[in-house]
Amino acid sequence: MRIDIITVLPELLQSPFEHSIMQRAQEKGLLEVVVHNLRDFGLGKHKQVDDYQFGGGAGMVMMCEPLANCLDGLLAQRTYDEVIFLTPDGERYQQRMANQLSLKKNLLLICGHYKGIDERIREHYVTREISIGDYVLSGGELAAAIVVDSLGRLLPGVLGDEQSALLDSFQDDLLAPPVYTRPAKFRDWDVPDILLSGHTGKIDDWRYEQALARTKARRPDLLDGDE
Ligand code: ADE
Repeated sequence: MRIDIITVLPELLQSPFEHSIMQRAQEKGLLEVVVHNLRDFGLGKHKQVDDYQFGGGAGMVMMCEPLANCLDGLLAQRTYDEVIFLTPDGERYQQRMANQLSLKKNLLLICGHYKGIDERIREHYVTREISIGDYVLSGGELAAAIVVDSLGRLLPGVLGDEQSALLDSFQDDLLAPPVYTRPAKFRDWDVPDILLSGHTGKIDDWRYEQALARTKARRPDLLDGDE
């Protein structure tokens, strides 16, 4: 999978993909993340990318021309399955959407800043708008990093244990059960006996019960089937 990201803050998008699973995904050639600095397409000697909004009001708006020029260049080189704008008024990002997007080949992400981007770019280029939650970030970069991370780990071959992405919280609309590691006794806190029993069938049942109880207590909405 290749993911292109358009941003005015490329520095913010360096470190998130240089470590651990994201680094491995790229080293294995399973994921390619290419960051484009919108400033390179800025206008005039100040490389302007934003301007005051028509109609008045506080906050700058990212202009059409730099974005359109950057997008045209990228769209001329390859076909993108989706052109995604990260925005708090987008569709809420969920594991289900991550699963769907992880099957795509080429994604193009646009990070907004200031008051947002000129609506005409949304109308003419953007195919999907995604919000990572009901709060406002100062820009789309951290949201883009979250989307890329959640997709990257789903690509076949990225995680060492092929199964482990499938056992994550949310994959079956359940939160994950509790996990423990050595020592079996720490202070006077014991690991549940069942996990030390060696009965795989019973352990699976216990994990399922725990996952269900945790989901009922913390996220009953997931069990309604409409999330
Ligand atoms: N940009 C600013 N806030 C955002 C959010 N919650 N999700 C996605 N992009 C954003």
